[in-house]
Amino acid sequence: MPKKTIAAKEPEEKMEKAEKPAAASEAPVKKGKAPPELLRGFRDILPEEQARWSLIRAKVREMADAYSFDRIELPLLERADLFQRTLGKQTDVIEKEMYAFEDPSGDLVAMRPEATASVARAFVNHGMFNLPQPVKLWYEGPMFRHDRPQAGRYRQFNQFGFESLGVPDAIVDAQLILIAARTFKELGIDVTIQINSIGTPESRQSYLAELTSYFRPHRNKLSEDDKRRLQKSPLRLLDSKDPAIAELLAGAPQIVDWLDEESKQHFTKVLEYLDEVEVSYQLNPFLVRGLDYYTRTVFEIWESGDEGERAQNALGGGGRYDGLVELIGGRPTPACGFAIGMERVAKAMADRNIAPEARAKPLVFFCQLGDGARRVGLRLFEEFRVAGIPVAEAFGKNALKAQLEVANKLEVPYALLLGQKEVLDGTIIIRDMDSGAQEIVDSGKIVSIMKRKLAKSEGVTRPSQDVVQ
Ligand code: HAM
Repeated sequence: MPKKTIAAKEPEEKMEKAEKPAAASEAPVKKGKAPPELLRGFRDILPEEQARWSLIRAKVREMADAYSFDRIELPLLERADLFQRTLGKQTDVIEKEMYAFEDPSGDLVAMRPEATASVARAFVNHGMFNLPQPVKLWYEGPMFRHDRPQAGRYRQFNQFGFESLGVPDAIVDAQLILIAARTFKELGIDVTIQINSIGTPESRQSYLAELTSYFRPHRNKLSEDDKRRLQKSPLRLLDSKDPAIAELLAGAPQIVDWLDEESKQHFTKVLEYLDEVEVSYQLNPFLVRGLDYYTRTVFEIWESGDEGERAQNALGGGGRYDGLVELIGGRPTPACGFAIGMERVAKAMADRNIAPEARAKPLVFFCQLGDGARRVGLRLFEEFRVAGIPVAEAFGKNALKAQLEVANKLEVPYALLLGQKEVLDGTIIIRDMDSGAQEIVDSGKIVSIMKRKLAKSEGVTRPSQDVVQ
């Protein structure tokens, strides 16, 4: 049995109304029979949202194929120390948000809060340094952070991510940023790329000293949390949400002025490549990211518009992590990557009324009267499906009127009517839903007859593989 969790407790904040599960807030509750509630920060992705999710997934797959990234599937549960060693002991993700617990065999395990550490582990475990470099991998799936739930922030959320391991060149960083930018463009979401370089761990030391001495005289203005940061990880002050810090930041030293020569040149090259492919970016001297493994390039993708607000709700982020593979016991392996929060992408699409069709619109509707007709209908349905003609039915309804109402609602051009008589005669009635005209045809030829009719009237019958699931 799990004995303890080490996720720190934090004050439970009221969830926004929109985030409340409908069943909990609206359904009438019988005394003593409260319906089971979702855990806070967890959500169902309902059928009506699935078309957007399918579109995102299809686009990610398309981009991965186009840029030759191979899919990797990683476990949801890892040894907790993989994340503790790589993400940084003082980061929020490790200090407050990790779902870590002892499993029944006594191992301290964690629900993955992100996937880059697992990618690095897999790279080492499977000897991927022997493959031609870079090794380009992509993934998609749920992550877990015991964060404070609010709009766009969940305790289980989905990411897709692209990681390129083995090559230090700036062109890798630029191409990853290009992939992220183009993915959003093709999904119809305007974004800005926020970019910065945080140099190497060595060159960062003198900057950290400078930053600490800048903030020290202002210590009394800092919150308790930020005082702790000042002492333990002063870089985190740069993305503090506290307005007092925002004011102080205006005069704070900027990390780009402290970069070593190589990091400076690397950064310049990344920006030149981005200019070359016309990916616009904003230099953000205070972008540092919330995980410790980054070196040199760091970037985030923000929704265009209210940058101030979006800063806390980035659509995605990433950067270079040249020391990570070595840190977990592999050979020194430069690497770079990014991950995007899929709930936030889906929300951005919904905000823009981007509503793809859930599935191909049916072109034919079956109406059946009686048990024999229903049986034939079931078989004919299969024939239409195999022929790639989208068809709908309401096998649960008996009255013709009720079935025609459904057909009307679906706006199908044709309904097929099958009664006892037609079953006995081996015929079927085709009804033109616009004119109401009906004709009786041989039921054995119905699929080819409809194919011809649809080709004439619509000019198309969609092959089944085009159907967005
Ligand atoms: P991250 O910035 O922690 O980076 O997360 C990336 C994205 O995941 C965020 O920008 C956001 O869209 C989404 N996300 C994070 N936390 C939540 C949450 N609680 N609820 C909803 N969405 C969330 C990483 O995870 C790095 N592994 C990215 C990376 C890949 N760096 C290099 N390679």
